[in-house]
Amino acid sequence: MATPVDSPVIEVTDLVRKFGDRTVINDISFNVRRGETLVIMGGSGCGKSTLLRHIIGSMKPTSGSVKIFGQEITTMNEREIASVRRRFGMLFQSGALLASLTVGENVALPLLQHTENSADEIEEIVEEKLQMVGLSGFEDLKPAEISGGMKKRVGLARALALDPELLFSDEPTSGLDPIMTAVVDQLTLKLTHGEHLTAVVVTHDMTSAFRIATRMIMLGHGSIVAQGTPDEIRNSLNPEVQQFINGQADGPIPLNLSQDEHEHHQHVKPRPFIGARHRFHRKTA
Ligand SMILES: Nc1ncnc2c1ncn2[C@@H]1O[C@H](COP(=O)(O)OP(=O)(O)OP(=O)(O)O)[C@@H](O)[C@H]1O
Ligand SMILES: [Mg+2]
Repeated sequence: MATPVDSPVIEVTDLVRKFGDRTVINDISFNVRRGETLVIMGGSGCGKSTLLRHIIGSMKPTSGSVKIFGQEITTMNEREIASVRRRFGMLFQSGALLASLTVGENVALPLLQHTENSADEIEEIVEEKLQMVGLSGFEDLKPAEISGGMKKRVGLARALALDPELLFSDEPTSGLDPIMTAVVDQLTLKLTHGEHLTAVVVTHDMTSAFRIATRMIMLGHGSIVAQGTPDEIRNSLNPEVQQFINGQADGPIPLNLSQDEHEHHQHVKPRPFIGARHRFHRKTA
């Protein structure tokens, strides 16, 4: 299903997600246009990964709408989501590689699931994608045999296996050294500039964020604190934005949970930890 060229690739409208009585996504709306690289940033636990999971349809919102390629994803069943999933790649924060498969088999997975390609064709694509992320020759290793940063890059190769129109990356450069970060950023830039890929990238890494973003959204307290071009964000007068992008310990962003969360936690009785109690009482029992 073709999407008209100028309509947004992603439209998020009035999105709300509650877990129990805790609102993690609090009425968020934004669009992503074709060819953009939208960077989503914000403190740990502010809801970035949860937002991505709602956009890709793996979580259902409490209310609100997410359209991807013009189709409402929040009401789709698994089979319908699978057909949309064919058109985007997702790099999960954890890498999410299957431990029992080799690096090569992990990258091949989407090709086996979604294409009729021959084994030779798949091998060629796997080799090409691993080369893109600097991992040629590592096909036969298992995830347990490679480093954390390498797992990230295998995850990226897998996300790119189907040459997606849209790429979601959750912390693509965390755990990578500065040179490998630059390699991954350059790859993102090459794909978004040259091949009109649209990218939504969640990152804490401000060097990387300013290198790749065409637009930025900063989340806080479940809402959008600020959004704009990298220059607008850099020059933002909002002290929360300045604290975040400059990595300052002191400022308006609380170090701990929000007041609401703190109160909520105080009302929750701690669960007894049987193992510990047993251990503490072992000598006297
Ligand atoms: N399935 C779930 N059930 C209950 N709470 C959840 C669930 N998933 C996420 N949360 C809560 O939502 C909040 C946001 O989590 P999320 O993983 O989206 O944060 P994040 O911004 O990606 O953080 P980080 O930068 O550390 O990856 C957290 O308080 C988390 O506990
Ligand atoms: Mg996260």
